[in-house]
Formats: sequence, C-alpha cells, structure tokens
Amino acid sequence: MHAMQVALCYVNKFAKSRCGPTHALIIETNEEADPLAKEGVRMARDILLVVDHGVAAEGEEREPFLLFPHLYGIFIWLLWGSKASSGKLPPGPRRIPILGNLLDLGDKPHKSLAELAKTHGPLMSLKLGSLTTIVVSSAAMAKEVLQNHDLTFSNRTIGDALRVNQHDEVGLPWMPVSPLWRTLRKVCSSHFFSNKKLDAHQYLRRKKIEELLSYVHKHCRAGEAINIGQAAFNSSINLLSDTVFSKDLVDPNSKDAQAFKHTVCSIMEEGGKTNLADYFPVLRKIDPQGVRRRMSIHLTKLLNLVEKMFDERLHLRKEHGSIASDDVLDALLDIIEDNLVELNKTHLTHLLGVLFVAGTDTTSVSLEWAMAELLHNPQVLQKAQVELKKTIGKGNQVEESDIARLPYLQAIVKETVRMHPPLPLLLPRRAGADVEIHGFRIPEGSQVLVNAWAIGRDPDVWENPECFTPERFLGLEIDVKGRNFELIPFGAGRRICPGLPLAMRMLHLMLGSLINNFDWKIEGGVMNMEEKFGISLQKAEPLRAIPIPLV
Ligand code: HEM
Repeated sequence: MHAMQVALCYVNKFAKSRCGPTHALIIETNEEADPLAKEGVRMARDILLVVDHGVAAEGEEREPFLLFPHLYGIFIWLLWGSKASSGKLPPGPRRIPILGNLLDLGDKPHKSLAELAKTHGPLMSLKLGSLTTIVVSSAAMAKEVLQNHDLTFSNRTIGDALRVNQHDEVGLPWMPVSPLWRTLRKVCSSHFFSNKKLDAHQYLRRKKIEELLSYVHKHCRAGEAINIGQAAFNSSINLLSDTVFSKDLVDPNSKDAQAFKHTVCSIMEEGGKTNLADYFPVLRKIDPQGVRRRMSIHLTKLLNLVEKMFDERLHLRKEHGSIASDDVLDALLDIIEDNLVELNKTHLTHLLGVLFVAGTDTTSVSLEWAMAELLHNPQVLQKAQVELKKTIGKGNQVEESDIARLPYLQAIVKETVRMHPPLPLLLPRRAGADVEIHGFRIPEGSQVLVNAWAIGRDPDVWENPECFTPERFLGLEIDVKGRNFELIPFGAGRRICPGLPLAMRMLHLMLGSLINNFDWKIEGGVMNMEEKFGISLQKAEPLRAIPIPLV
C-alpha cells in the first residue's frame, strides 16, 4: 500500500465519520510509529486543509478540523452532483463522497478497471476525485472512441506535473491537435520514422545490436546474469541518441550521458505516480506530493541537456560552416535556419526530449516481457530458434530485411504486446464535446481511458487469453497499426504512436539477435511474472537471465 492510498483511506474515514479534531488527533497519535501511516496522515491533513481553504471566505482564519460543516456541505454537493449527472452516463461502480472511485483503482489500475468492467460493461464511468472518467474496455467501444469519434477524443487530459516548463503546450504527446501538432508530427515522420529514413539509419541499429551482443558475450563467458530490461534500455537510448546527436548517451565514461539517463528515468518515475492534484484541482496550489516540483527539476535538466547539444552543434556549424553529420540534429537545425515552418528551438528541444522519454522505456519494457515469456515457455523459445536457424542460420546477424521472413518471431512480438501493452491505459484522452455512444452520454471535459490491457485479454475475442500462445497470430491478418481494435498497444486514430515503425524494428532485431546467439537460463531458476504499474507496465521483479552459448 502507498502513502497516498493510506491518505485516501483517512480522508474517507473523516468524510464518513463527520467528527472533528479529536478523531483526527486520535488517528495521528495511534499511527505515529508507522512511517507509511504517518506520511498518509500528513497527506490526508493537507487534503482536508486545502478542501477547507477552498471553501473558507477570503482572509478568514480557521482551525482546520472545525470546518466540517463546510466539508460536509461539499460531500452533499458532490453526492448530489454525481447523482444529478449520472442519469445518462455509462454505468459504473458506486462512489464515495469526495474520493469517488479513487480507492477502487488500487495499485494496478488496469487490472482493477478490467475487473470492474466485468460488472459494469465495456463503457464505464467513474469519478476519480472530481474528475469524471470514462473507461473503455472492449474492441468495439475502442473503435467508437478512437475511430468513429476520433476528432472529439483527440486531445489529452493533462496531469498537473506536466504543466511545467510549458510542456503541456509544446510537448508533442500533450499539446492539443493544432497546426503546431501537425507540423511536429510531420517533422517526426519525415526525419525519424518514414521508411526511407529508417532504412537510411539501419546501419546505426546494426551497430547497436552488435554492441548489445558483445556485452552479452562478455557476461556469457563470465557465466554472469544480465538485467535484460536495463540492457535493452541502454541499447534503445543509445540508438536514439546516435540517430539524433551522433553520440552515445549511455557511455560509462561520459558524465553527460549518465546524467541524461538518470533524468529520463526520473521523468518516467514521476510521470507514473498517482498524483492527488490531478483529481482535486484545488490541491494544485500546494502540490501535496511534490510531484510537480520534482518533475519540473527533471524536465528542466532534460531540456537543458538537449539544448546544450543544440548549442554545441550550432557553434560547430558557425565555426566550420554547414557540416554534414547526417543526423537528425542537423536536419532540425536546417529547419530552424531555413525558417520554412513555424518551429523554433523551444519546440524542437521539447520534441527531442519527448522522443527520448517516450521511446526508450516502452521499447525496453516490451523486450523484457518478451524474453520473460520465452523463458517461461521454453517450447516457444525453441520454436523461434528453429525458425531463425532455418531462415538466417544459427549465430548469424538478424537483419531488418529478414523480419518479413520470420512469421513466428513476429507472432511472439504481437503476443507479447497483447498480454503486456507497455502503456496499458494508452495515454489519457479528453472528450472535447458532449458525445453520445451506445445511448450513453460522455460529458465534455471527461477523461477517457482505453484499457488496452483488458482488450488484449478479452475472453470474447481471445481464446485462452491468459496463455502466451504466439501460434494464435499465425495466418491471421491482425497487426498493431491501429486498424484491429482488439490489439492496440500503440493506440489508434490520429494520435497513434508515431514511433511504432521504429519500435517494431528494434523489438524484432533485439529479440531475434538475443535468441539466435544464446540460450538463456533464469538466474535463481524461478520466474516471477508479476506486473508493476507505473508510466509503463514493468515487471515487478526485473528479469535477470544468464546467457549460455548456443549449441
Ligand atoms: C513498444 C514501444 C512503444 C509503445 C507500445 C508505444 C505506445 C504508445 C501509445 C499507446 C501512445 C498513445 C497513443 C494514443 O493516444 O492513441 C503513444 C504515443 C506516443 N509515442 Fe509511443 N510507443 C512506443 C514506442 C515509441 C517510440 C520508439 C517513440 C519515439 C522515439 C514513441 C513516441 C511517441 C510519441 C511522440 C507519442 C505521442 C503522439 C501524440 O500524442 O501525437 N513511442 N505511444
């Protein structure tokens, strides 16, 4: 249990008890010894104080817990408000005052929401604090939201922590659909993700795979285990930084590189935290968990690092004239200098920062799950190795042009992201207007979560959904490109992940190379397949496996 959950329980207790300071103090005194409870009590008091200040007349000084008449008034208002608007809303679980359904989320919201959808249906409404939230849990409903009403749901609900450094306005994943958003998506496709660009940068990926394999060989010779997720993370971030800056960012000898990696990881960590300020806007003033404050520090660092690279290159270009590094940074600087589109250095700094954060963790987490499933299902691993041996030869380098000839490897990747979508609730969308779907009203301003995890495990669509069976995809025309709503790990519609083509190339290359060159043994012999919910769906226990020479 997290301190935040403890806090919410206390707020709930206060709300139900209708008693004042004595009760609060009893709780505080009783729980003093337990640090988690203490932190929870502190947060609960912050919430109650802020709720109180929200209703106090200006300049009026009050004892915090003498405000219960006001607080109680808010409960009644919330209850009444929720009943008044619930008529046409999609069905959902019962709410409690103030917190609504926050306590229903638990520490694995994707699972709790999937469970709730079994009772309330594939279009469900919840109240998370004061935020009306619609949860979509079937392929048919996902199609309604992401395709039939694509434009209405094409903007995001933005967490409080992301409203720093103007990131909500200039960060590609968060900004509203607008001419600027379109321009940035175009820049992404023409400089990063078009087939032409991806083919042109193929040699860089080959180099990164060679480096990954030589790292694994070293551990193989020493008989040591490897943290698979960490190795994949390093390869992914270096691949991106080589493409953009012609520089490795995970280089143990470089201070900048280490700082960069730490910063990217910290942003992911803060981004994955449940932040009370998202559910109670009145709390934004005090940022009770300090998420926004820490996010601001990390994001500023990331943007400064990217900016430093921009400036170094600008300096070089001034000194030596236009130098052709054939990397993305040069291409982006050309865009600014040529003034052809309305983009400035701030836009591109945020864009590069975003690509590093969005592209590294998602890819490495998927690779880690794929390897975990293969080690958990040795017959699948063996079948994949046979396919690789027949098609390209044991121990040979897997090339991108080989992927099309490796249907079983492709099926493994699809099966992995079906069962373990790295962003199980995609990125939150926002209803831009009142819309009616299947007779229910989705109110303007509500948050819309698409539970890709639940959709990937829907027993009405998938036979034995909890079993890792890549064979189910053989001969099936289902892909992950947002056309088949039963499999949408990259989302769908106009805001579908632009990094999909790169991610798919990387995943096949890394996975194929790791299993065509080595056999693998789980360190300690036991595998824990539990999940941990954060900004991406991680393995609760990192996969550590020992590479063994392939015989
Ligand atoms: C396995 C790997 C990946 C997965 C599963 C994934 C998944 C997603 C999902 C679910 C979304 C939200 C889509 C929606 O709202 O419908 C998204 C958005 C995004 N992704 Fe990815 N992603 C991956 C890799 C990457 C990579 C490699 C990059 C770039 C280097 C990237 C960059 C982005 C960006 C910039 C957005 C925001 C797009 C927008 O809002 O317009 N992703 N991704």
